[in-house]
Amino acid sequence: MAILVTGGAGYIGAHVCVELLAAGYEVVVIDNYSNSREEVLRRIERIAGKPLIAYRVDLLDRPAVEAVFEEHSIEAVIHLAGLKSVGESVAMPIAYYHNNITGTLILCDVMRGRGIKRFVFSSSATVYGVPERIPITEDMPLSATNPYGQTKLMLEQVLRDIHGSDPQWSIALLRYFNPIGAHESGTIGEDPKGIPNNLMPYITQVAVGRRAELQVYGDDYETVDGTGVRDYIHVVDLARGHLAALRYVMEASGVEAFNLGTGRGYSVLELVSAFEKASGVRVPYRIVDRRPGDVAACYADSSKAEEALGWRAEKGIDDMCRDSWRWQSQNPNGYEG
Ligand code: WQD
Repeated sequence: MAILVTGGAGYIGAHVCVELLAAGYEVVVIDNYSNSREEVLRRIERIAGKPLIAYRVDLLDRPAVEAVFEEHSIEAVIHLAGLKSVGESVAMPIAYYHNNITGTLILCDVMRGRGIKRFVFSSSATVYGVPERIPITEDMPLSATNPYGQTKLMLEQVLRDIHGSDPQWSIALLRYFNPIGAHESGTIGEDPKGIPNNLMPYITQVAVGRRAELQVYGDDYETVDGTGVRDYIHVVDLARGHLAALRYVMEASGVEAFNLGTGRGYSVLELVSAFEKASGVRVPYRIVDRRPGDVAACYADSSKAEEALGWRAEKGIDDMCRDSWRWQSQNPNGYEG
């Protein structure tokens, strides 16, 4: 019996596959490589010392998806594949709704047809919109401020309705906060195509000399130093949260949402300072205007995941910065190199 990981060649997906292989699972990956590279799969295998099976498949290609399920005995699915840039989603809503919504509907319908009902879904803290209070708990109101977030919100509802139609489905909705860091080997990590949207890859590209300086989006928020505060979580802790959720859906049934964060917020300047300390490299920055759509502060209450999944984040900000830097310094051009 195998675990299917969609988007398994991506940043989160690669780290999930490493943890699954280390735990003894058989892993099958499908990925369309729109935001990843086949090279990642080779590196996953080198880290794990085990093979994994991978297919270049787009979830919108139903016959190709069916063929993978025909070829392998899949017992559960960890669904990470999806477009995930907030800014890009505003510019390309049709692509985001089609890729993320239709792709997930096809995946779930193929699962339904084969009686496969155990599902771990990559959701996002973005479903909380502008949080009315922090730390954020799973029962707080949900809203979306952009098409990307709307796809996550809609898919959480789709999955609740699928369970409503068949209560044997067992679904975990994992609401990620801000994943950063990399595997300790430094051989897999975050490698966004083009100009990084997110803070840490931008910092590491400045540190390695690919970019001149970091632009800090506003220092007039009501926060410790005026810059945005976020809940950064080590990607390996996040990956281990997926294994805990997989074990949970194998035992339970129903639909449950879980925050995967650390419960600790850091400002932009605090992260820059932590990175400079961990890497020994200075990161020049310039304060510029706020980025539209940003919230001042956002961090998790992850006690529900701790109680129900027996999971909590263990790595601190120094680990995250050191591991991000090891990845980027060993791979100055990401996987391109
Ligand atoms: C973090 C902080 C920025 C870049 C996004 C998505 C969310 C999720 C995680 C998918 C903010 C500041 C950033 C830069 C900066 N993705 N910043 N200069 O916006 O919290 O969340 O990624 O699920 O859906 O919204 O993360 O890393 O973009 O920003 O000052 O060049 O860093 O203003 O305060 P964000 P981020």
